[in-house]
Amino acid sequence: MSDLAIVILAAGKGTRMKTSLPKVLHPIAGKPMLHHVLDCAAELKPTKTVVVLSPDAEEIITSVKKYAPKASIAIQEKPLGTAHAVMAAESVLKNHKGPVLVCYGDTPFISADTLKLLITALQRLTIVVLGFESKDPGGYGRLVTNNMGDVEAIIEAREASATVKKIKLCNSGVMGFDGSKLFGLLKQIEPNNSKKEFYLTDIIGIARRSALKTSVVIAPEAEVLGVNSQSQLADAEALFQQKLRHKALEHGVQMMDPATVYLRADTEFGRDVVLHPHVVFGDGVKVGDGVEIRSFSHIEQATLGKNTRVGPFARIRPGTVTGEDVHIGNFVEIKNAKLGKQAKVNHLSYVGDATVGAAANIGAGTITCNYDGVHKHHTKIGDGAFIGSNTSLVAPVSIGKGAVIGAGSTITKDVEADALALNMMPQKQEKGRAKTLRAKQQKK
Ligand code: UD1
Ligand code: MG
Repeated sequence: MSDLAIVILAAGKGTRMKTSLPKVLHPIAGKPMLHHVLDCAAELKPTKTVVVLSPDAEEIITSVKKYAPKASIAIQEKPLGTAHAVMAAESVLKNHKGPVLVCYGDTPFISADTLKLLITALQRLTIVVLGFESKDPGGYGRLVTNNMGDVEAIIEAREASATVKKIKLCNSGVMGFDGSKLFGLLKQIEPNNSKKEFYLTDIIGIARRSALKTSVVIAPEAEVLGVNSQSQLADAEALFQQKLRHKALEHGVQMMDPATVYLRADTEFGRDVVLHPHVVFGDGVKVGDGVEIRSFSHIEQATLGKNTRVGPFARIRPGTVTGEDVHIGNFVEIKNAKLGKQAKVNHLSYVGDATVGAAANIGAGTITCNYDGVHKHHTKIGDGAFIGSNTSLVAPVSIGKGAVIGAGSTITKDVEADALALNMMPQKQEKGRAKTLRAKQQKK
């Protein structure tokens, strides 16, 4: 949008999280809260996005530079309040005349559609506040409105009288400003309050005294939910998961117990997918048509081909790609491996850094020994090969098409197509020996 600026405040301490990870980097559905807000901002194509951070926020700075390299970073030297934080963006927004939206890094569900409503409202206003009705307004700032519905003041809960505290209309913290007036107004704010902070909310009273127009746009409470503690983070995660599950169900994904399935915003589903209870997705999973994922499976950065069946109790790690009708069974781990059409790895195996040909059958307990302690090596298994149970394939190694490996083998050299390879110990049998041993033990 032409000449739009978005300022994201994230210089607060976040002490109530009680963790060493900065608050805004706590993930919701695997994505840091701040990235949710940056994504929302990016949808509006602003000319400038500024993230306001504290001087000691190296971890957040690194994360922003990587995730949103075009965003500017402004440092608020001391946490002297929300108005003071917006002031920190002044040098980046010098000469900015268009609308300025202020969002919070800890209010992750704000949507681009709502922000668009604020931008539209700014065509006739100097300041627009995003408000919400709350049954339990607690510590939120209250919006004092006149009979026209315009906002005349925002009063922080700390400074509110009993009458003001009864107001249910709250300040979400998100506000929009006419950029040509913003910094002039901010400079008039004084720290006349119990916290001795520069409250951004005081800008409303100041604007009204200069006869500037201020009003409110209402958002649903769920969209402006702020995260200040672990329990609010868990609530936010639950809410977001609910949305993702609903979207998947609407798409036609069958889930017996949706509440136990954990999704990511980027999980992609084809048609006729069935998810059993307790399935967890990490980032970057594409699930093809007709795929069935059974209980207690964990899947990340993988592409599952048509009619692939996974689990129960399977772990699918990054770089897994399966063809059609592949079966991956219980207690199987797959990593960085391509499995051809109709390949089967049904029990207790580790297949890592491997290419498995079409219709190959990997017996129970097969391990690709891909790591020599320093480097990772590749295992190639040809089409239709049969790997007997409890086989170690010491990579780099290649098993030819149609080859058969005897159970319990340790394969260190390449096996030709259609060859039989085995290297287990020859079997010895001593007639009646078990019986005599038992008798001896019983005597003792
Ligand atoms: C603020 C609002 C309150 C509103 C509530 C909504 C003010 C004075 N109060 O209160 O009306 O109902 O949000 O959640 O604005 N921040 C900085 N630098 C600072 C202080 C804060 O960057 O010096 C950032 C924080 O990182 C956070 C945001 O500003 O992202 C809000 O700060 P917070 O301390 O949580 O404000 P509240 O007391 O919740
Ligand atoms: Mg807050």
